[in-house]
Amino acid sequence: MTSIDQPVTRSATEPVVLGGTLAHQVAPAPWPRVAGREMELLGEVVQSGKWAFDGPLEAEFESRFAAFQDANYGLCVANGTVALQLALEALDIGVGDEVIVPGLTWQATAAAPLDINAIPVLADVEPGTYCIDPAEVERLITARTRAIIPVHLYGSLADMDRLCDIGARHGIAVIEDCAHAHGSQWRGQGTGSLGTLGCFSFQLFKTLTAGEGGFVTTNDPKLRERIYSLRNCGRRRAGSADENWRAIQSGNYRMTEFQAAMLLAQFDAFEDQACQRDRNANAIEARLAELPGVAPMDHPQQRTRISPYEFVFKFLAEEWDGLSGQGFRKALEAEIGVDVDRVNEPLNAAPLYLPHTKRRYRLSDAHWEAVNPERFKLPMATQAYAEGVSLPHKVLLDDDAVCAVADAIARLFEHRQALARWETSGSS
Ligand SMILES: Cc1ncc(COP(=O)(O)O)c(C=O)c1O
Repeated sequence: MTSIDQPVTRSATEPVVLGGTLAHQVAPAPWPRVAGREMELLGEVVQSGKWAFDGPLEAEFESRFAAFQDANYGLCVANGTVALQLALEALDIGVGDEVIVPGLTWQATAAAPLDINAIPVLADVEPGTYCIDPAEVERLITARTRAIIPVHLYGSLADMDRLCDIGARHGIAVIEDCAHAHGSQWRGQGTGSLGTLGCFSFQLFKTLTAGEGGFVTTNDPKLRERIYSLRNCGRRRAGSADENWRAIQSGNYRMTEFQAAMLLAQFDAFEDQACQRDRNANAIEARLAELPGVAPMDHPQQRTRISPYEFVFKFLAEEWDGLSGQGFRKALEAEIGVDVDRVNEPLNAAPLYLPHTKRRYRLSDAHWEAVNPERFKLPMATQAYAEGVSLPHKVLLDDDAVCAVADAIARLFEHRQALARWETSGSS
């Protein structure tokens, strides 16, 4: 008799996909959420006629959000992808330079170096955090390496102690991709203030949003002036005291005052939300550690606050008597009434990271080969794609979700054999 043929003990509550009823709708409130002052501040912008860039609300948001992340300077830009591109260009990184990025991330982290004619070098990730593996970074450094872009992915933070040490030893910049980590802290210090520069996204699904938008943080006054010029067609920032400033070729990567108004309004609610996400992420991880069939991500002690973009944990396939990760995600989604996703595809197989579909990257045959993502082996990122389970961050804004998610997983585990039969019968 195979394990999936064994009789199962039926409990009072069947999983929803097997005919049970939804026990608890997790996170019923939608995202994005209005914080309060949005209409008032947007109205101010409309009346002021100052609709574009360098407005008072943008300046206020820049100083408040930079201070919140513990950085000396912050600059609004068009989106998170542009933030990464400008960070690289501010460091004068360009043609033929190598930039080490994690093989598990949204494609923008690699597309940014690609778009400035640099070579994205894909490093595998650590099994416990899914963030870039410092040992892999060290292995991939060459004489042409100019920067490392660690991504603080989902609920994890990249090991900034080791990465900053590598950067310092090799004279290489560390650009933090903080698109998932607004409000998160490493050793009590805000993300985006630990490396040379930090890059944030304010796209709709992010924890702080204006629909679209991006942000660059730095502690270096010269880089601040460079980023300002790069975002504004090469112009000098009014009030810049940099005597060595020179005009630089660039384009329009600015944010509007309407977006700054939205961000300021959203920021009113942000710190409370970040603390609530941190509390609930830690509480769910503690429950997951006690359950069979799943495992939380590692929680290094330097991770002192986490306000993740998505909450990720591991599905341990070998414990589920034949139920696949895909079947589990579908069953959990029905159980809690919230989208349950997987993590990003590894960039050596991602459907939206395709350098060879654009002729502009054919700078030479050697460059064309260097930017081919298929030349990188990413076994850990591939495993993460198979086992990672992702819940939207709004789940962490529902205090009742801590029990509801854990109870739902325990229920599915109890019925795993019936669920495996449900999946193999094609009902899933
Ligand atoms: C890790 C990471 N970096 C960068 C970005 C790019 O941000 P944007 O969509 O604002 O360009 C994203 C967007 O989802 C992301 O997830």
